[in-house]
Amino acid sequence: MSLIGGSSKCWIGGWGGREGGRDGREFHLSCALLVSKIIHHPPFISPMNRLVAERSENLEGFSLLHDMVITPSYYIFFKAPLTIQPLPWLLGLTGVASCIKFQDSQPAIAYLIPRSSPSKPMISIPVDPHFSFHFSNAYDDASTGETVVDIIRVPKLYLTDTNGVTGIPIWKTVNYEQDVPKSTLWRYRLNPSLASHTKQELWTTYCDFPSIPPSRTGQPYRYTYLAAGRDPNLPTPVGVVAKFDVEKGELVDSWTAGPNEFISETVVVPKGKGGKGGGAEDDAYLMTYVFSGETSLSQVLIFDAQSLGKGPVARLQLNSNIPLSLHGTWAPDAVYEGEDILRKYTCYSGLKKFGVVESGMAPIFEI
Ligand SMILES: [Fe+2]
Repeated sequence: MSLIGGSSKCWIGGWGGREGGRDGREFHLSCALLVSKIIHHPPFISPMNRLVAERSENLEGFSLLHDMVITPSYYIFFKAPLTIQPLPWLLGLTGVASCIKFQDSQPAIAYLIPRSSPSKPMISIPVDPHFSFHFSNAYDDASTGETVVDIIRVPKLYLTDTNGVTGIPIWKTVNYEQDVPKSTLWRYRLNPSLASHTKQELWTTYCDFPSIPPSRTGQPYRYTYLAAGRDPNLPTPVGVVAKFDVEKGELVDSWTAGPNEFISETVVVPKGKGGKGGGAEDDAYLMTYVFSGETSLSQVLIFDAQSLGKGPVARLQLNSNIPLSLHGTWAPDAVYEGEDILRKYTCYSGLKKFGVVESGMAPIFEI
């Protein structure tokens, strides 16, 4: 499950969230990966929790869909040019990641699925070969008829198993600056009528995990908050919280963590109405985790989005670690009773014995 526009995502399974603007309708989408290459979508869920529409689409070829975005007119997916030869995985010889290959001679495809009518066909727009894990946001540009899509783009994807081909864990051997390509923020302008597109790199610094206020989902917006590298030219583990103005195409403000500290996705928490917003777009708190490589402990950091560079307004020291976590989300109405808290703590206590989580898969990009 996810909130669209830079919050928590799920790789294989589904996406969902609450649309910004309009009626705040919830939607849920899912993808049957490796099986039928079908996107099932959506059950729309109305404010009364009633299923109001459902639709499915077939995509050609192998799909690895990690994220999607929504506008008032379209559901939008970008499909990278990938193939899979799963036999080594099915025989237990490798992980599935090693069986996925990037086809740099083939275009990526932007899929726009009209929301207004189930009978309107899906629009396919070939774009340049690339891979994208995460979207920042998308919106309909009424002045041009284009759909604007902001993504974190890399020119190529290379996946390998956690232990690579050498049997040595990849986190022990990876040379971050050399092996990890520079993922950067790009803007695609898609023309649904002409099935054409233009693209522009908005920020050349290595970054990922774009996050926006929930109210701006699918709407024109100004700021996206990113986890960025410390070096403006090279990929480095993310240690900078960045506030980027997508209208002006410039970095507005940033905060850099300590030398051995690493940050996670920033969650935007609107200040007004108990965390539900209503004020200026950046009238919000930013929350993230920072993991200390020196103490192996994590902290929760809270910033004022209008004075990010001044540093956190609060640091909450945890007595455990959340090493390099990925996504986060903010649930303004999540208030737990004592029994719930006790049940969650019991569950957490049971999980603590698992000090290492082994996924068997390592997403590394190829330059
Ligand atoms: Fe993700």
